[in-house]
Amino acid sequence: MSENYPTSQDFYGRDFIISKDVLIPRPETEQIIDIILNLAGKAYLPGVKPSPRVLPEKPVILDVGTGSGCIAITLKKELPEAEVYASDISEKAISIAKKNAAKFGTPIPFIISHLLEKVNISPDLIVANLPYVDESWDWLDKKSLEKEPSLALYAEDHGLALIKELIDTANSKYLVLEADPCQHEAIIDYAHEKYHLLETRGFCLLFTKY
Ligand SMILES: C[S@@+](CC[C@H](N)C(=O)[O-])C[C@H]1O[C@@H](n2cnc3c(N)ncnc32)[C@H](O)[C@@H]1O
Repeated sequence: MSENYPTSQDFYGRDFIISKDVLIPRPETEQIIDIILNLAGKAYLPGVKPSPRVLPEKPVILDVGTGSGCIAITLKKELPEAEVYASDISEKAISIAKKNAAKFGTPIPFIISHLLEKVNISPDLIVANLPYVDESWDWLDKKSLEKEPSLALYAEDHGLALIKELIDTANSKYLVLEADPCQHEAIIDYAHEKYHLLETRGFCLLFTKY
């Protein structure tokens, strides 16, 4: 392991175990949690009135590309009534996610799969922070990213290959994605015949199915 690689990282107020096999959870990803709590009719900030619940009382949620498990585990902690599943193509990432699930006492089934290929459930909501970095972006500080696994960062087709494939194969009523804001317009355009946009917040996009 690289000498300076952190062994833990805070995400939504919890300390997650990490290793060089997973992306270091980012603060911008925390807004995904706020968006989903809002859909579940839960207040996500003191003083913010919760919206009416649109998700079922016991929603089935799938986190695709779970990495350290930070999204899936946080959702299970914040919404214990939800049935939360998580998947990743990386066996090594799943083993870190399992350690975090044990640490936080969250019973989550983990599935090793390319996107939805081996997933046999019908979630109400799919959430995915998939790799979306385009290696050719000239503003990238590649040096600062080189410790993290490229499998967790980079995607073909201007960073959109995996996001597009997920949109093609997903069938959930709600879809929550993270991408760089410069990619949002292209994603909204790509999804428009199947999913329409309800909201963007920071790096996150919330879609619902027509
Ligand atoms: C940007 S990281 C996100 C990790 C975590 N969800 C987070 O928000 O910190 C993307 C994750 O997607 C996984 N991944 C990459 N290609 C994938 C694929 N084809 N199918 C499923 N997961 C994939 C990577 O292994 C990595 O864990």
